[in-house]
This record gives sequence, C-alpha cells and structure tokens, in this order.
Amino acid sequence: MGESLGALKRSHLCGTLREEHIDETVVVMGWVQKSRNLGALVFTDVRDYTGIVQVVFDSEEDETVFDKATSLRSEYVVAVKGTVRKRSSVNEKIPTGRIEILASELKILSESEVPPIYVKDDDDVSDDLRLKYRTLDLRKPHSQSVLRTRSWVYKLTRDFFYDEGFVEVETPMLNKPTPEGARDYLVPSRIHEGSFYALPQSPQLMKQLLMVAGFDRYIQIARCFRDEDLRFNRQPEFTQIDMELSFVEADDIIAINERYLKMLFKEILDVDLNIPFDRMTYREAMDRYGVDKPDVRFGMELQDVSDIVKDCDFKVFSGAVEDGGSVRAIVVKGGESFYSRKKIDKLEAFVKDFKAKGLAWMKVKEDGIQSPILKFIGEEKAQQIIDDVQAKRGDLILFVADKNSVVYAALGNLRNHIADEMDLIPEDVIAPLWIVEFPLFEYDEEEGRYVAKHHPFTSPMDEDLDKIESDPANCRAKAYDIVINGDEMGGGSIRIHDSDVQERMFKALGFSEEEAMEKFGFLIEAFKYGAPPHGGLAYGLDRLIMLLTGEKNMRHVIAFPKTQSASDLLTGAPVELSEKQLEEVHIRVIEE
Ligand code: AMO
Ligand code: AMP
Repeated sequence: MGESLGALKRSHLCGTLREEHIDETVVVMGWVQKSRNLGALVFTDVRDYTGIVQVVFDSEEDETVFDKATSLRSEYVVAVKGTVRKRSSVNEKIPTGRIEILASELKILSESEVPPIYVKDDDDVSDDLRLKYRTLDLRKPHSQSVLRTRSWVYKLTRDFFYDEGFVEVETPMLNKPTPEGARDYLVPSRIHEGSFYALPQSPQLMKQLLMVAGFDRYIQIARCFRDEDLRFNRQPEFTQIDMELSFVEADDIIAINERYLKMLFKEILDVDLNIPFDRMTYREAMDRYGVDKPDVRFGMELQDVSDIVKDCDFKVFSGAVEDGGSVRAIVVKGGESFYSRKKIDKLEAFVKDFKAKGLAWMKVKEDGIQSPILKFIGEEKAQQIIDDVQAKRGDLILFVADKNSVVYAALGNLRNHIADEMDLIPEDVIAPLWIVEFPLFEYDEEEGRYVAKHHPFTSPMDEDLDKIESDPANCRAKAYDIVINGDEMGGGSIRIHDSDVQERMFKALGFSEEEAMEKFGFLIEAFKYGAPPHGGLAYGLDRLIMLLTGEKNMRHVIAFPKTQSASDLLTGAPVELSEKQLEEVHIRVIEE
C-alpha cells in the first residue's frame, strides 16, 4: 500500500546535499538504508543512486510526521520534504555528513518486506543469493557504479568511433547456424517445420558483408551467444565491441584501437597509456610465457633446459626431449622457503589439470641442492641447470617435461598461479600488449584435421601464402589479439578478400567445394562482385569493464547475468515448455 507522490517534486538527489544547502527547503526521494528510533527522534538514512542523506523526524516539530516515521524499515521507498540544517555530530565518512534534513513531510511510497540480502557493499553473501535477488544487489553503490561505468563506456566508444567515420549497423539475431567455432544457441522456426536459426556467436560474416556493401567502417555494440563451457570470464551471452574496416592493413586497425584504448583508460581511470603498445609474436609469447595471453607485469619466464638434460639418466626428462618435446623450467624467486613440500604437492596437482604428468623441483638452499630428482640427474647436471636458469640461493626451480603444448600450458598457467599466491603482480599497472603472427591453423586431435585458429576468413601472411598447402603448421596469419594484464581483451584479423585464397583455405580445412558453398555460399557469392581488402577486431566488452572497474567476476559487470551452468537465478531460465508450446515449434523432447 503506497502513497502517491501528489504534488511533491524531487528537488535534490540525496548524495548531492552539502553545507551550501543549509536553510533550504528540499525534497528527496529514495530507499530507507536504515532507520533508528531514539524515542523522541527518528533518524533515517535515505539512499538514492548518488548516496545517502540523514533525515531527522522530531516529535516536537510535527507529531503526525514523527509517528509515521516510526514505522519506517529498511528498503521502504519514501519522499521527504524538509529543511537542511547543520548536523551536530559530523560524519566525515560520507559527503553529506555535515548536514541533515529536518523533515516536515513524509510520504511512504512503498513498503518493503525484510530484504533477503542487505543493500550494502560489504555484505558477505553468496553469489547465488546475489543473483537470485539481483534487483536488491544492483541497489548497492558498487553495483550501481559498475553499471554506470559500463554505460559511460558505451557512450565513449560510440563517440570515438563515430568521430572516426564508423557507422553503427545492427546485424540479425536470427541467423544461419555456423559450423565452425563454439556451439550455437539454436532457435526453432515455427513457420518452417524442422528448421532452425542460430543466435550469433559474433557478427563476423555480416560485418564482412557490410564491407562488401561499401560501408567502409562499421561498429556495433553487439550481443553474442556461445554455448560453451563457462568459466569466470565467460558468459553464454556476452557483448562485443565489434568493428570492421575497409582498405586497411593490420597496422591501421592496431593504430586506431591504440588511440581508442588510450582515450578509454584516460577517461575512466585517468591512466595514461603509452602508444604504440608493445607487440610480441605468438611464437615468442609461447616460448617466454607458455600462453598466448601473457601477463607481462612480472617475470618468472619459462626457460628451456632440454639441451642440458637431453642425455641425462632421468628418463622422464631425456625421454620427453627424445620424443620431440622439451623440458622447461621456471625460477620462483624466494620460493625455497615460501613453498613447503606440501605446497609443492598442491602445485603438482595444479599442473596435472593441464595434463602434465608431474612437477619436478629443485630448491637452492644454504647447504646445497634439495630435489627429488637429484639422485637421477646428479650434482653436476643440477648445478649446470642452476647456472643456466640463473637461480640463486633461496630460489625454487620447477620443471615440466612433456610434449611442448603440455609444457607450455602447465608452466604458463602455473606461472600465473604462483604470481597470485606470492602476490607478485603490481595491481596498479596496466600492461597492454599486442600478440601478432598467430598461426593460421591449429591441429584438432579429435577431428584429425587442421581447423582455423581464428576463423576460416582470416588471411595468411603474404610471405606464408605457400605454406597453406606445404606447411600448414607454420603458416602464420594476419591475426592479432589485444592482451591486457594477462587477459585477452579482444582479437581480430585481416580477412581474405581474394576468392582463390579463400578456396585454398577451405580446401586446407578439409571442406569440399560443395560443403564450402553450402556453409558459406552467401559470403562466397557476395565476394564475387567486388570485395575491398578489409579486416577488423572485436573486444569482449564485459572483460574490458572488468578491467576498468577492478571486478574479478564477469557476473558482476552484467546487469542480469547467467551462472556457471548457464541458468538465470532471477527468472529461473531456462525452463521446460508445455506440450502445446513444443508442438507449435515442431519439437519433441527426448528424455535421456
Ligand atoms: P573472438 O572469438 O576472439 O573474435 O571474440 C572477441 C572477444 O570476445 C570476448 N569473448 C567473450 N567474452 C565473454 N564471454 C565469452 N563467452 C566470450 N567469448 C569471447 C573475448 C574475445 O577476445 N569475430 C571475431 C572478431 C574479429 O575477428 O573481428 C570474434 O568473435 O574478449
Ligand atoms: P617419479 O620418478 O615418477 O617419482 O618422479 C620424480 C619426480 O619427477 C616427481 O617430483 C614428479 O613430480 C616429477 N615428474 C614426473 N613426471 C614429470 C614430468 N613429465 N615433468 C616434470 N616432472 C615430472
């Protein structure tokens, strides 16, 4: 049962009142943060998105208003009219802490049941509860600030790219399913019995068509859908800042995006990024960091010790090198005392998640070398390794021996993990880095064929064109990722605009001409009538917002996110459908 506003008009936002407003009559509206009844006085904190202001109801001023105020509870929605006055006990913690409103009128616009979660930032409540009661969760100052930053990023992004001559075009949500990439979210057609649309994984093909259509520069803040296994920085439904440009090479796209990111970080964080950003080839990133999105804010780089151990008696090491793999190490400075045996066991369990078979270690101690593999490799080799990797007294050396892909993944991820555990990452540094010269192909063990590392429309590097057929494993692409602080913020490429090259690409991926036509015929057809050279890039907007707000969890930068199992705890989606609804879209559910 709520009162209506009547003639009351809001005059000020709660968080904006200051000493300069003293003696003014004001009207504020908002939610009751908390209300304390001290007998003859009721103190009520009223909150809107700008902050909190204290309201005083004094029984000696107006009995009726005071009586009404005694019923106020947390999250009631109120309108209060009153006079601003100096506060006797100043609260320096809040910007309005020097004043309060002495109320002359109170409207209870809406009552609230006891809220299941508190509306305050430091409320230590489970994420599931936060998502279930997301509307309450979103009232918290931090949630408000995150989504408002997000909104600001939309505006800055549009302003920047519009000024650069980009046009915003909406591409369809209902699309032809794509065979490459992640799994599609499918939508059944009612009209075409047994046929399906797919929600877009990205507007990739459409934006290329827009280039062929002569739009020259396209931008879209685009919703994308991928039915993939979720992790902390992946959502089934996420947003890209998606762009495509005609008549450009990779350097042009990189340059414009450096200026964009510089502007964004300046505006939002007041951080000055130096441009151009550093660039690193994919090869170098893998060799030095084991991953294609290295966090370069700290060292602990991978070091190859294969040559030293290739003919030692420790079969795990020599065997790995013999089989074409390698033995690599990282040196953990000060790790000797930080990592007990027990903690090293945990590190070993960690690398096993990346398919490593074990984690050999060596401690450089005051009184010599301590290592479970010392008896296999001997003092001399051990000392040779220590010299080679430049380990000092007090350091811990960790080794993985395996095929290269396993060594890279295990040590690359272990490196990040240890940096976290040992607090080695300078949190206030922003380290952007372009990773360039990605491989064009990636061998898919399950499918037993090469698949496109980026997508089938990515152009090979001019100097590697011949390798499409002769040496696909070493054929590099005009593809680039922007990595910031160890996270892939975005990626893109120059596309193939030449139909001969596209045909060779399809062939290398194992598509017959008919298959290619069936899957991508509409694109191939469009390219027949004059396709400009073009390329583009897409940012994961949600990841950018995480970086810009310091949020560690992607769910908290999205208004209504999904959980790890792709459900929406607020609405309960997904849900089962009635027989009638299923029939309409010609679907029968098979119970597993
Ligand atoms: P890509 O697949 O690399 O490229 O996606 C671009 C960026 O989108 C973000 N991203 C995600 N964010 C949240 N949840 C997800 N599930 C998710 N998946 C990807 C990442 C990633 O860098 N069409 C190409 C771009 C192009 O070539 O222009 C594309 O989609 O930050
Ligand atoms: P083992 O002889 O299997 O007991 O292994 C001796 C040490 O080598 C243990 O510390 C193992 O964790 C480690 N180890 C085993 N396999 C590997 C591997 N592939 N790479 C690195 N270390 C390994």
